Amino acid sequence: MRTTPLVLGVLVSGRGSNLQAILDAIEGGRCPARVAVVVSDQAEARALNRARAAGVKAVHLDPQGHADRASFDDAIARVLAEHGVELACLAGYMRLLSPGFVAAYRGRILNVHPALLPAFAGLHAQRQALAYGVKVSGATVHFVDEGVDTGPIILQAAVPVREDDTEDTLAARILVEEHRLYPEAIRLYAEGRVEIVGRRVRIRSAP
Ligand code: GRF
Repeated sequence: MRTTPLVLGVLVSGRGSNLQAILDAIEGGRCPARVAVVVSDQAEARALNRARAAGVKAVHLDPQGHADRASFDDAIARVLAEHGVELACLAGYMRLLSPGFVAAYRGRILNVHPALLPAFAGLHAQRQALAYGVKVSGATVHFVDEGVDTGPIILQAAVPVREDDTEDTLAARILVEEHRLYPEAIRLYAEGRVEIVGRRVRIRSAP
């Protein structure tokens, strides 16, 4: 059992409500971790302000300044290493990670997705769910592999789709579950209770 908080680096592109949920859970003693750095590919991301407000180092890296995705991801990896990051958490990060980054951080990158994977991977998951006509959607926290939202699943929560749902109302209801699940998954990881076995994630019971 570790005695120091797990060191997180959170990658963001926008609003940052999941980042906020993680920060709040840490502050509230519900997640034994510390956010060492928040990295955004968007200079104006509200998530950067949330980081600063919490006293967390906020870094903007501009993809335009890099020749390709691999060199941009190398720059991210350098920032994470400088801050001693043990677990990288994607929280509304809108870029695909290069295979080199995923390989270097294998088993150490999490993502939250607003659907019950493997249904509705990729962009606009709530719109996809409504268009398909499912009666239940939800939220997923999973490890990141080379694919798009294909990595081993840690936690999921179901959310009913209502007759009168719009993309926005469904997204809002799913977001409540994202905010609950993400800090919970990080807590389980920090407690050393998450084990990847092939495609499956085994969650060990608390000691
Ligand atoms: C969330 O719905 C997340 O599942 C998806 O993008 C959204 C990010 O929201 N990947 P926020 O930036 O955390 O508020």
